[in-house]
Formats: sequence, C-alpha cells, structure tokens
Amino acid sequence: MNTDLVVALDFSSTEEADRLISRLVGLPVVYKVGLQLFLCAGPDWVRSLTASGARVFLDLKFHDIPNTAARAVVEATKLGAEFVTVHLAGGRRMLDEIAVAIERAKAAGEIRTPPRVLGVSVLTSFQEEEWVASVSHMAKISEVRPIRDSVLHFADLVARHPGVDGMVCSPLEVSAVRLKYPDLFLMVPGIRLAGGNWNDQQRVMTPSEAKKTGASAIVVGRPITEAADPRRAVETFLQELS
Ligand code: C5P
Repeated sequence: MNTDLVVALDFSSTEEADRLISRLVGLPVVYKVGLQLFLCAGPDWVRSLTASGARVFLDLKFHDIPNTAARAVVEATKLGAEFVTVHLAGGRRMLDEIAVAIERAKAAGEIRTPPRVLGVSVLTSFQEEEWVASVSHMAKISEVRPIRDSVLHFADLVARHPGVDGMVCSPLEVSAVRLKYPDLFLMVPGIRLAGGNWNDQQRVMTPSEAKKTGASAIVVGRPITEAADPRRAVETFLQELS
C-alpha cells in the first residue's frame, strides 16, 4: 500500500509557509494547513495554494452543531482542499449532515470534487491516564474507555458512515483498526525518525513502522519545519516510505 507524506505547515505567517513550500518544489507531498496558519493566511492563500496544483489537507477539525459543521465543511471544500477533518465526537448526526451538504453543494455546482472527510479520533498528544481522566471528566456520558477501545469505537462509526472516508489516529492504534477495517483511509500523525525529538507527541512511531502497520498517510510537522535542511528531511521521510 502506498503511504503519502503530509507536511504540517504549522507556521504563523505565509512567508514562512511559502519559504518551506518553495524549498520542497517537486517533491510528492501533501501540505497540511491547520488552524494556526489558516487564521493568519486566510482562505485566499489556501485557494492560491490549491490553484497552484498543490495537494492540500485543511485540518480545521470542525466540531459543532450539525448545520454549522456541515456549512463549514462545504466552505473548506470550495477552497480546493483534498482532505478536511471533523471531530468524530461531533456524533453521527453531524456526520450525516456533512454528507448531505457536500452532495447538495456538488449538485448545485458549487464544488467540483468532494473532499475526503476524515474523522479525528483521539488526539496523539494524549497519554492513557490523561485520556481516561479527560473522558470521565468531559463525559459522564459514557463508560470510561482506554484509548484503543475509544479509537476502535470511532473506527466503527467511520466505517459504517458513507459520508466519512477515513480517520486520524495515532500510529499505535493503526494495526488494531487496520485488522478490522482493511480499506479505511488512516491519516497518522505522531511520526518521528528513530532517535528524533518526540516534542509533545506521546504515541509515536517511525515512518517505516507506520507504513508497515498500515498507515495510508503520515503527518509530519516539526521534524521537517524545524530541520536545518527541510528538503533533505522530507527526502529522508520519503525514502523510509518507499
Ligand atoms: O510537529 P508534529 O509532527 O508533532 O506535528 C503533527 C501535526 O499533526 C500537527 O499539525 C498536529 O496538529 C497534527 N495532529 C496530531 N494529532 C492528531 C491530529 C493532528 O498531531 N490526532
């Protein structure tokens, strides 16, 4: 299975993002635009990035009432993003409405290519204890589940939902999800080269391990954005994925 490399453009100015993009010209990567860059770059910058032919993952992790989330996903799609994210905790009704809104926008000619909607399961920065504490605190709405069970529960939701194409999960949950759902698109952050700095990620894996366990795409930020030679860093990651 082919595993894509997604470079997280976690910057607070378009100058920094443009500088990195210009250094990576010609390399087969997807650019991830998260909230930080989106809020300073704005939609026009994203539109021009997609218009230049770049593959873009707009990672705004929508989580709202169904109507609001659905309208936001349609706007994200109009910018030409290939991937968009929504929090699975938003629930089935939010996902239903997103699917309907995308179909409606397509039928109305407002969008040409529907995006691949990815559901965010459990953020890779969580450790087990913190997750359990957080779930029991937030919720009291469901039984407390370990991360793996929670991720598998979310995977069931995604696999059964025709409007969601895949999910975001940590490398440590990929094999369990893959075993149950061989065809789900799995976008996997928390990737580090052997011996690299983990930063605030808690559940990490190397690119080749992630590919072997079944990641469809890996997301890498700081090991590339903070590298002295980002092009070389990207080439190293691509090499491990080849
Ligand atoms: O710098 P680093 O490689 O840790 O960046 C990982 C990127 O993936 C960040 O943009 C982060 O927001 C994103 N991400 C994540 N875990 C998730 C979802 C997204 O690390 N579950």
